[in-house]
Amino acid sequence: MTVEVQSSVTEKATASNDKSKVIFEVKDLHLHYLTRFGNKIPAVSGVSFTINKGEILGIAGESGCGKSTLVNGCMGLFIPPLHPTSGDVLVAGESIMNRSPADVRKNVLGRKVAMIPQGAFNSLNPTRKIKDFAADMISSHEKGSNKKEIYERLRNRFKTIGMDESILNSYPIQITAGMRQRSVIAISTLLNPQMVIADEPTSALDVTTQKAVIKMIFDLLEKDIFSSMIFITHELPLLRHVADHIAVMYAGEFVEVGTTEQLIFDPRHPYTKALMGSMLSAEPGQKQKKPVAIEGAPPNLANPIQGCRFAERCPVARKECHVNKQEIRIVGERQVRCDYAN
Ligand SMILES: Nc1ncnc2c1ncn2[C@@H]1O[C@H](COP(=O)(O)OP(=O)(O)OP(=O)(O)O)[C@@H](O)[C@H]1O
Ligand SMILES: [Mg+2]
Repeated sequence: MTVEVQSSVTEKATASNDKSKVIFEVKDLHLHYLTRFGNKIPAVSGVSFTINKGEILGIAGESGCGKSTLVNGCMGLFIPPLHPTSGDVLVAGESIMNRSPADVRKNVLGRKVAMIPQGAFNSLNPTRKIKDFAADMISSHEKGSNKKEIYERLRNRFKTIGMDESILNSYPIQITAGMRQRSVIAISTLLNPQMVIADEPTSALDVTTQKAVIKMIFDLLEKDIFSSMIFITHELPLLRHVADHIAVMYAGEFVEVGTTEQLIFDPRHPYTKALMGSMLSAEPGQKQKKPVAIEGAPPNLANPIQGCRFAERCPVARKECHVNKQEIRIVGERQVRCDYAN
């Protein structure tokens, strides 16, 4: 199963299959956690997508659906109990699957693809000033680099994106969560990577701060500091303002992939519909419908699942849905993993 995602910030209408523009490729990726009893929990199952230069892909899904696991897999960061089962990840055409975490950290992370892990802004070392955290991070990528020069680059970058330079001399506790998050993004992208993978970069932030973080991301894109992005969130409606294309994930699989317009305004998979219906998404001048929670919980992936993974919670499930595994198929110009979606 292959899901080709084409999305573009600047060339939405003209996205093509031009391989020379592909900067990131995930091919039929399967990942599992190995329990201490030796059982394999398949947390990501058969995910494929391609990202071209200038594209933003949003990935949305409920807590526990495998978003962060996929992010770690995309970066080749396999720290036990997470292990690759099969599939491949290519950065600028080169596989990163059989490289050591140390090699990936040194040669890929930050340089080619920057990763902003979930909750990074809350896990900054409280005893290190922001500039020292940055110096530690940059010198781990550039052996022999000198602190003064790193500080100078940081000051310049903060100036370029309109951030107050005094933040650099602060301890994390002295600045707001929003400033910490923007600092983490500025520092993570200091080496001008081609692409950024941001895992829930706006979660746990108030709405005004969320907007400031998103505005900063767009500033960085406009200034060509990086050109492509994977933006992970559990808030599907938020992606309307961020992504060109969206993949909705459920129980380790992509269940619907299409343009932002298609998934936000005309979702076809019952899970995408339920996810949209469960969120506040009022537009200015429009009455907000009352959000409806999705009943039940995602399946326990430790147990084998027969049939559709969403069937137990699906309001329109038929008898066959509990028996037949659902494959991704083309419906119109999108991909949907449901035999009955049209
Ligand atoms: N270290 C681990 N060992 C075993 N299972 C794990 C481990 N970490 C995560 N999982 C399981 O893998 C699945 C996916 O978890 P993951 O953290 O990737 O979800 P997520 O979509 O990022 O959730 P959230 O929105 O809460 O961040 C979950 O069922 C989770 O329980
Ligand atoms: Mg997560």
